[in-house]
Amino acid sequence: HRHLLGIQGLGPQEITTILDLADGYAAQNRSIDKRRNLLGGRTLVNLFFENSTRTLTSFELAGKRLGADVINMQTSASSVAKGESLIDTAMTLNAMHLDVLVVRHAESGAAELLSEKVNCAVINAGDGAHEHPTQALLDALTIRRRKGTIAGLTVAICGDVLHSRVARSNIHLLNTMGARVRLVGPRTLIPSQVDRMGVEVFHDMRAGIKDVDVVMMLRIQNERMKGSFIPSIPEYFRFFGLDYEKLALAKPDAVIMHPGPMNRGVEIDSDVADDVERSLIREQVEMGVAVRMACLDLLTRHLPNAVVL
Ligand code: CP
Repeated sequence: HRHLLGIQGLGPQEITTILDLADGYAAQNRSIDKRRNLLGGRTLVNLFFENSTRTLTSFELAGKRLGADVINMQTSASSVAKGESLIDTAMTLNAMHLDVLVVRHAESGAAELLSEKVNCAVINAGDGAHEHPTQALLDALTIRRRKGTIAGLTVAICGDVLHSRVARSNIHLLNTMGARVRLVGPRTLIPSQVDRMGVEVFHDMRAGIKDVDVVMMLRIQNERMKGSFIPSIPEYFRFFGLDYEKLALAKPDAVIMHPGPMNRGVEIDSDVADDVERSLIREQVEMGVAVRMACLDLLTRHLPNAVVL
């Protein structure tokens, strides 16, 4: 079986194939008839051990628009609450003959572990601070649609990089596609091994977003913090929050992105987030459905020349 566990290891051609297919689904999703029966008779289970709005809903929609039977398992309402383990939960579902298992879990490596046990395709919908591959793909599609290309762009990923699986997947994807990546944040929120990631690091946001094409903001992930990583919210916003004053240093046509959920007034000014011309945050959500349709399509194809993810 083929799986989508991370962006690391995917090449430019594989990424381009997914984005091209997703572009077609994006057009279909804007039409009246959004359904194709490509996955008729197939079963998709969304197994989420962490909360989600965007990823869960868009995988459900993506599966249904392709004709699959879709089951959402939020583990707070399952037998996980009675102590059943991750593997036992997955193997129980596996016994029901699934075709695709979409997994979100707080531990890095959880999706890969399950992919070695079950008889179906596994998609990583976020594992700890490791990877969130479909998020990076939807971000890439959003950038490509606005800018025409990814190669040659400078992208600043700003904020809580340390706890962000979105940042890790985006670093791999943007580097693979020929963009320059900057990480911007306080020393306490930038991982120490970044010198091996092919990025430039800035602890001064004004310097970090100067002349960039894309400003990608990240949420402060309080739920993953064991100590205190930021001094106070007003102080954090002053130094690392995106407002119009700092945004003026980026290129005049620079776009604003955020994977969501946003904390308005913490990492991003509310008016900047809602900027009709420059904020792509709603389009990111829209592209999420299209990208997940493309991933489901490719992973369930059994053609001799299918893309192996
Ligand atoms: N961006 C993202 O993964 O959002 P959710 O946590 O709401 O799925």
